[in-house]
Amino acid sequence: MTLNIPIILGSVREGRKSEAPAKYILEKVKSAGHTTQLVDFKEMPLPFYNGSTVPVVYFKTKYPNENAERWSQIARAADAFIIVSPEYNHGYPAVLKNALDWGYLEFEKKPFGLIGVSNGSTAGARMIEHIRPIIQNFNAMSIRETVMIGPIAKYFDDSGKLLDDSLNKKIDGLLASLTWWAEALKRARVN
Ligand SMILES: Cc1cc2nc3c(=O)[nH]c(=O)nc-3n(C[C@H](O)[C@H](O)[C@H](O)COP(=O)(O)O)c2cc1C
Repeated sequence: MTLNIPIILGSVREGRKSEAPAKYILEKVKSAGHTTQLVDFKEMPLPFYNGSTVPVVYFKTKYPNENAERWSQIARAADAFIIVSPEYNHGYPAVLKNALDWGYLEFEKKPFGLIGVSNGSTAGARMIEHIRPIIQNFNAMSIRETVMIGPIAKYFDDSGKLLDDSLNKKIDGLLASLTWWAEALKRARVN
């Protein structure tokens, strides 16, 4: 089954390191025959959530912000999501949480794959575990398999070239599980 799996990048920082793994995974998802795109809030900035009501109302009408509407359209067309994000102060970056706050029904009953990035050996593990309950609130789910990329310099050079082939096996494992869940949930949503 061909699936639509956007890659959500959790950093908008100048010189961000998580862009390289996000783009690498994007190519892997494409070569597996799926539809994908990079969801980059540096290119599509969102204000801190400032709607006068909850996002569910906008889902059913139109969002008050052009980029929020764009993001909603991307998310509602998705069958699954992959988050590639650094850990900031032992949690998820505010930009990532804010992007999730702009949606709700868009994520419902869809699986998320979580990939952590860090310049240290904890490799985004705390970001991953902190974001799971947020995802659960959308009546969505995060798959058990994760990929933790850290220290980032061990895995990618500054040009974005992969330095450690062992990462491929981990990403393939995550994709196998994510697509299993995405197919099962898509069938269940349609039926
Ligand atoms: C605001 C901020 C907080 C950070 N906090 C953590 C942290 O809690 N744990 C960690 O492993 N690295 C932390 N780092 C270091 C990041 O792992 C490193 O800067 C990484 O490159 C961030 O990803 P990015 O370059 O894609 O933004 C932090 C970096 C920033 C900018």
